Amino acid sequence: MGTGRTVIVFGADGYLGWATALHLSQVGFTVIAADNLIRRSWDRECGTDTLIPIRSMPERVRAWREVSGNEMLWRRVDIRNPKAVNALFMEFQPDAVVHFAEQRSAPFSMVDQDHSLLTQVGNLTGTINLLYAIRDIAPDCHLVKLGTMGEYGTPNIDIEEGFIEITHNGRTDRLPYPKQAGSFYHLSKVHDSHNIHFASRVWGIRATDLNQGVVYGCTTDEIAMDRRLATRFDYDTIWGTALNRFCAQAAVNQPITVYGKGGQTRGFLDIRDTVECIRISIEHPAEPHEFRVFNQFTEQFSVQQLATLIAEARKEHGLATSIDHVANPRIEQEEHYYNAKHQALIDLGLQPHLLRSTLLDSVIATVEHWKKRVDLDLLLRPSVDWKKGRNLNWKGASHPHLTQVRSTDSLREAPLIARVGS
Ligand SMILES: NC(=O)c1ccc[n+]([C@@H]2O[C@H](COP(=O)([O-])OP(=O)(O)OC[C@H]3O[C@@H](n4cnc5c(N)ncnc54)[C@H](O)[C@@H]3O)[C@@H](O)[C@H]2O)c1
Repeated sequence: MGTGRTVIVFGADGYLGWATALHLSQVGFTVIAADNLIRRSWDRECGTDTLIPIRSMPERVRAWREVSGNEMLWRRVDIRNPKAVNALFMEFQPDAVVHFAEQRSAPFSMVDQDHSLLTQVGNLTGTINLLYAIRDIAPDCHLVKLGTMGEYGTPNIDIEEGFIEITHNGRTDRLPYPKQAGSFYHLSKVHDSHNIHFASRVWGIRATDLNQGVVYGCTTDEIAMDRRLATRFDYDTIWGTALNRFCAQAAVNQPITVYGKGGQTRGFLDIRDTVECIRISIEHPAEPHEFRVFNQFTEQFSVQQLATLIAEARKEHGLATSIDHVANPRIEQEEHYYNAKHQALIDLGLQPHLLRSTLLDSVIATVEHWKKRVDLDLLLRPSVDWKKGRNLNWKGASHPHLTQVRSTDSLREAPLIARVGS
């Protein structure tokens, strides 16, 4: 399908980036896997770890070559470094670039001022670097950027795909849908979206912004080919999603802890659908000057519904589960209207996998298999609070990279871009 075309996957060492790099390689794209491995150091900072063990990038790429016969090129690159990004674009002249390479944890972005700065400065810098590289080096390259459904918040009206038609004082226009993000991380995605939209208008960049829901599952057709191809699985209160955390809690005979009333409703999708959505987006590129927004999820559930689904799925296999409610560390509406559109990717051919039919195969059985690796300290109480920042049970040490973003003075001197991950 993708034969002869070159795609750079930024963030290829991560949960979704690795699965996507494999899939794109399998369907015939020439894949350049790029990452600065910073997520592995953030794990060391937070005392967190993936439940499923993962190999180093050189080992994964070698295993992929052995198993599939496909060559994937691996480059250690910091997306915040404009020279390094430009050099990569000059070397490969990509047809598309997929951008996963951001700090993506809402709690991590709320730990303290340093972490908020790290998140917003880092995320915005990487995206702007890609926009310049496309404009100056590969103007026809299609940017496929991972945003989040969290950009919209929970408005009391239906959520459209990126734009809404508004009539005001007798005049009508199609305008960007209002954003009410719930953390400094989610806000970094909002700012990215504005920057991409702007670059698309003024420079003609082709861009697809994928407002993705919460992804679950740990296997795809390619990952299933060899255990050395495993992708990461986060279950802790910093990096793990509610579904992963609940499955890990239940596996070690702890009650599932629902934050607050559990009425918070979000969009979800299987990791197999994530990789398909990226392939579909690349194979149907945006036009020059077009900034498309697709809502990338397949089903919506409340947190309470998720907990109940997991308990029911476990029961079918003779596994007991209990559900508790704990104080919500986030500032968010716990009961609200939620109805988000998600038609564009279906229209382009996406055939969704549904949670009820895949939950056991893809998550519960895997977590049961690895449950000896579950660290209870990482699982039980939230270690970051939206009002207070880090809680007493925050396991993180101070982080070497943070010393470079301590104050706005140090940002003005701009050492971050040149030094981090070099
Ligand atoms: N996982 C989800 O459920 C989900 C949901 C919505 C959106 N997203 C978005 O998808 C993207 C990928 O998410 P994920 O779960 O795979 O995250 P992840 O943390 O597992 O992977 C992100 C990868 O990006 C790399 N990275 C970060 N900063 C970098 C930099 N400066 N230079 C180069 N590489 C860098 C990290 O080392 C890591 O390997 C993120 O942008 C995230 O916001 C994820």
